[in-house]
Amino acid sequence: MNLSFEHVFEPGTDPSAPPLLLLHGTGGDEHDLLPLGRALAPGAALLSPRGQVSERGALRFFARLGEGVFDPAEVTRRTNQLADFIAAAVRAYGIDPARLTAVGLSNGANIAATLLLLRPESLAGAVLLRPMVVLDQPAPPGSLAGRRVLIAGGSRDPIVPNSHPPRLAEQLRAGGASVTVHMSAVGHGLVPDDLTVGKKFLAGR
Ligand code: MLT
Repeated sequence: MNLSFEHVFEPGTDPSAPPLLLLHGTGGDEHDLLPLGRALAPGAALLSPRGQVSERGALRFFARLGEGVFDPAEVTRRTNQLADFIAAAVRAYGIDPARLTAVGLSNGANIAATLLLLRPESLAGAVLLRPMVVLDQPAPPGSLAGRRVLIAGGSRDPIVPNSHPPRLAEQLRAGGASVTVHMSAVGHGLVPDDLTVGKKFLAGR
């Protein structure tokens, strides 16, 4: 199938499970988060694209100028490309867009957040693991009505300042999203608690 991102699609086996869009972190690929997706929502359809930007060989979803330094035009362009891929993939695979929930880690969480800000029609909600504020703008009023978002931040994260998870939550709430912020004493990487908290959040949909 000729879709614009390399990706993996795993059809769902449990129609009650929400389809998940899996977005890997810097240096990952489309296979990285498949085990997490299967564990978070057993039987869910999984759509997992590969980031198209290479940072000295490490794949990402948008380029950065430095650690935590972003070019809004680049972020916007890449976010729109991913949103267009999602729209095409949803049609091609028969995914219900009204239930598609992103699960993103680090750079993947960041592009999930910019999808919510710039192309809110792409997602029904999101589990954002270690996101940061990338675009300094609130969601337009009403644009995220009915969307549920979990932000899982780490108070020992050496990359994401502690002020970012609550700032991002406010940006998304400005659009009407219902946002839960879960801070724990962890760093930037994935930990078992992310599965526990993410599963609980998805089950509460
Ligand atoms: C990363 O390591 O990818 C950063 O934490 C997030 C980003 O640059 O988008």
